[in-house]
Amino acid sequence: SAYKVAVVGATGAVGNMMIQVLEKRNFPVGELVLLASERSAGKTLKYKGKDLPVQELTESSFKGIEIGLFSAGGSISAKFAPIAAHEGCIVIDNTAHFRMDPDVPLVVPEVNPDALAGYTKRNIIANPNCSTIQMVVALKPLHDAARIKRIVVSTYQSVSGTGKDALEEMLVQSRDMATHIQWTKEDGLDKLWNSLSPFRTVKTTVYPHRIAFECLPQIDVFMDNGYTKEEMKMVWETKKIMDPAIQVTATTVRVPTFFGHSESVNIETERKLTARQATDLLSKAPGIKVMDDPANKKYPLTALAAGEDYTLVGRIREDESISNGLNLWVVSDNILKGAALNAVQIAEIMIDRYL
Ligand code: A2P
Repeated sequence: SAYKVAVVGATGAVGNMMIQVLEKRNFPVGELVLLASERSAGKTLKYKGKDLPVQELTESSFKGIEIGLFSAGGSISAKFAPIAAHEGCIVIDNTAHFRMDPDVPLVVPEVNPDALAGYTKRNIIANPNCSTIQMVVALKPLHDAARIKRIVVSTYQSVSGTGKDALEEMLVQSRDMATHIQWTKEDGLDKLWNSLSPFRTVKTTVYPHRIAFECLPQIDVFMDNGYTKEEMKMVWETKKIMDPAIQVTATTVRVPTFFGHSESVNIETERKLTARQATDLLSKAPGIKVMDDPANKKYPLTALAAGEDYTLVGRIREDESISNGLNLWVVSDNILKGAALNAVQIAEIMIDRYL
């Protein structure tokens, strides 16, 4: 059978990819309803060669909708997901709003698909944070084999994760700097230094500081403990999805890349895993491509992960500072596996098992 599916936030970076993933995976769509703000009403978006109209999201948008993929921001989900769920629609929500609700399953299909059984409590399922998803995909096989005790992760997150406005901000700033900084290798470094100074403080609308040619150690808001909310999402969500006993500490950083989040992941395990054993386990695990050939300079890059369904894992090394530790470099497409693909994979399990 085929399902009536709505995409909420269809004009956004993730919503648009949700439409493409539904098409590419031949999801059994009977009817596709595209919802966004009133600003987008009247626009059309392509699905299977046809132009579908974008409609304004309202409280009556969900009559007869069976599956709703939400990616229009936390406040939109807070208001409209319960309305949709009440109408009998299964909501798969990409925002952070419901993730830690004990009555809402938080699911990565490769890691904890059975948690989906709990969907009946609210009719809402949460899609985890993009950085959490790729990390737990990479760590699940290692945890099953050797029990991870502690994770230390640093992220290098791409600008697409913030949305289209942020991508534009990065491009405008980069273009501006690349055209106004006239410097070649024949010039002194002082000239470069001086020509950078007008760009030290630029007006921004999306990020708190310039993102072009910069690393921002702030993603989302700061919490009372000094960590950002993005960092705490990685802590809370990893425990909920994989194992509450795992200790996690994170530093999340926005870097001027387009698509694909990169992560330096250090783990300490109960039992020893050699780098070779870890590589073997990862090679056989679902959703993972091992890319680890230092002699040929092969390792995961955002340019290789963008557009890929797989999470790329490389630089697999034993941590020589402790007895049972490993270091990994993990890269995945944050819009695909980090958001749209994971949501559609959840929907596929739902129709397979429960609908
Ligand atoms: P719109 O394009 O009409 O503003 P991104 O994360 O790429 O910025 O996209 C955000 C998505 O959320 C867009 O599809 C946007 O629609 C949608 N959105 C934002 N605010 C609202 C709203 N008040 N009601 C419905 N959709 C919204």
